[in-house]
Amino acid sequence: MNSKQFKVRVTRQLPEPVETRMKELFDVNLSNSPYPLSRKELAKAMKDCDVLVPTIGDKVDKELINEAGKNLKLIANYGVGFDHIDVSKALQKGITVTNTPNVLTEDTADMAMALILSVPRRIKEGVKKLEDDQWDGWAPNALLGHRIYGKRLGILGMGRIGQAIAKRAKAFGIQIHYHNRNRLPIKLEESLEATYWESLDQMLARIDLLSINAPHTPSTFHLINARRLKLMKKTAYIINTARGELIDENALTRMLRSGQLAGAALDVFEKGNDINPRLKELDNVFMLPHMSSATIEGRIEMGEKVIVNIQTFSDGHTPPDIIL
Ligand code: DGY
Repeated sequence: MNSKQFKVRVTRQLPEPVETRMKELFDVNLSNSPYPLSRKELAKAMKDCDVLVPTIGDKVDKELINEAGKNLKLIANYGVGFDHIDVSKALQKGITVTNTPNVLTEDTADMAMALILSVPRRIKEGVKKLEDDQWDGWAPNALLGHRIYGKRLGILGMGRIGQAIAKRAKAFGIQIHYHNRNRLPIKLEESLEATYWESLDQMLARIDLLSINAPHTPSTFHLINARRLKLMKKTAYIINTARGELIDENALTRMLRSGQLAGAALDVFEKGNDINPRLKELDNVFMLPHMSSATIEGRIEMGEKVIVNIQTFSDGHTPPDIIL
């Protein structure tokens, strides 16, 4: 099928260059809203297109896939994480699913470094002092934080993003430790000077900083639960740029409030933007609104990946970023 005959439905407003290119290439129905579709709108969209381009926030679940129109053949996700899509149901129905890996790696790793520095170096408190006109000059004991040089960073999930963080952290003089389903090839491990821990529990007990970089799946839900949080040092910090569901947010809040953990820097939350209000109150928590990958360059490259996936599929080939 010629790609111009492909009815492509995009669920949210995308960067302008991506939308322009899509209009040139496909019979595309764009959205002018920055918000995800309602369930009803999503169900309707899925009945009436050949290709759906959803984003995080569009819950493409079993029921919606079951009720999808017979023409829906490709779900080309605009994003790398696909925990909002029931991929096995889609595959069962003969619907191909793709995502946009690689292009978010460096931006996410950059932001993870900003988060690694944020709480130990008390950046939020410093900014607040200035903004509230409360700064009365330099003082030997003012806003003392903790050094990160020489500390041990544990990376949970050593995929592309985990490795990009390891490279940066190594340049900061941080010691790299990691836990992953599979150990890295020895050459790669050596180049990152990374220590592998088969046991997550054992790694947690020994590190000063934990960076979460694993995807959200049924087996990683609440991987960092109350029991595991208690294994960590009281002086340790948690950084999450992956998915909020990996941490039991209520348990984390309790530990931070009671001083059983030093701090947390979070870009993602267990229930999206419905954040535990007690977490927001804490000085030792630095929060960002899921913006680790938010660069214009990255968002355009994500769009380019979506376009290549759709084009390859419409040409009858296997799209490069197929999820199996
Ligand atoms: C993704 O693509 O999964 C990111 O979390 C969006 O920033």
